Amino acid sequence: MRFAYLTLSLVIFIAIFDMIAAQSCHHLEDQKEIDECYMKIALDFAKIHNPQFPFGALIVDHTKNEISCFGANSNKKNKLLHGETAAFWNCTELYPSPTNDDMANPGLDWSKQTLFTTGEPCPMCASQSIYRGVARVVWGTSITDIYKSGRQQLDIRMENVVASAKIGAGLKDDNVPELVGGVLKDECDEAFWCAFSVWRTPEYHDAMEKNNDLAYIQDRDQRFHCETPSD
Ligand SMILES: *[C@@H]1O[C@H](CO)[C@@H](O)[C@H](O)[C@H]1NC(C)=O
Ligand SMILES: [Zn+2]
Repeated sequence: MRFAYLTLSLVIFIAIFDMIAAQSCHHLEDQKEIDECYMKIALDFAKIHNPQFPFGALIVDHTKNEISCFGANSNKKNKLLHGETAAFWNCTELYPSPTNDDMANPGLDWSKQTLFTTGEPCPMCASQSIYRGVARVVWGTSITDIYKSGRQQLDIRMENVVASAKIGAGLKDDNVPELVGGVLKDECDEAFWCAFSVWRTPEYHDAMEKNNDLAYIQDRDQRFHCETPSD
C-alpha cells in the first residue's frame, strides 16, 4: 500500500518534471532536438498571442541554452511588428545598452543568439537578423509555403537576402547568420494552413489551378485537420 503510494507520487513527480522540462529545452543536447524544442515553444507562443497570424519568434542564447526574449506577430498594435521584429524589440527593451550605445556596446552578446521563428523571415526581418548579427536563424514554414497557403509574401528567400550582404569594395560579407529551415515544418505548416483559410478566396483557387498547384491544396486538406472556428 505504502509502496504503491510512493510509486504513484514518483510517477506524478516525473510527469510534472517532464512538462516543465519540455518547456525549457534545458535537458536536451542534440542540436536537432534543441531546435525542435524551441520551435515548439515559438509556435505555442504564436498561437496564444495571435492565432490568425501564428508567426512567433524566440531569441535564444545558444551558449547557455536559455531563452533571451519572445515575439509574436502584433499587427493589431503595429502592422510592422512581425514576430521576429517584435522579438528583436523585446530583447532591446529587456537588455538595453548599459552605455546608451547600442551600436558599439549592445546589452546582449548577439553573436551568441539564435533566432527561432515559425515562418521563414521576410526581407524586413531577414535584414534585421543580419544587422543585429545573430549567429543562426531557424524557421519552420518557408516563404513559398506561406504564400501558397493564401497569404501575401515578398518572394525573396532569406538565403538571397544573406547572399546580398556586401562589405568594402563589394566583397561578400561572411559575417552573416547560418540558416536552418524546415524545423517542425509539418506543425508550422498546419498552423498557417488553418489560420489562413480565410485568405483562400475563389481568386486564390483559380490562380492555384492555373499554376497546376491543386495537388498542393489537396495534400494539405488531407493531412491537416483544422478546427472550424466557432462563432
Ligand atoms: C518581452 O516579452 C515578454 C513575453 O511576451 C513580455 O512579458 C515582456 O513584457 C516583454 N518586455 C518588454 C520590455 O517588452
Ligand atoms: Zn517579417
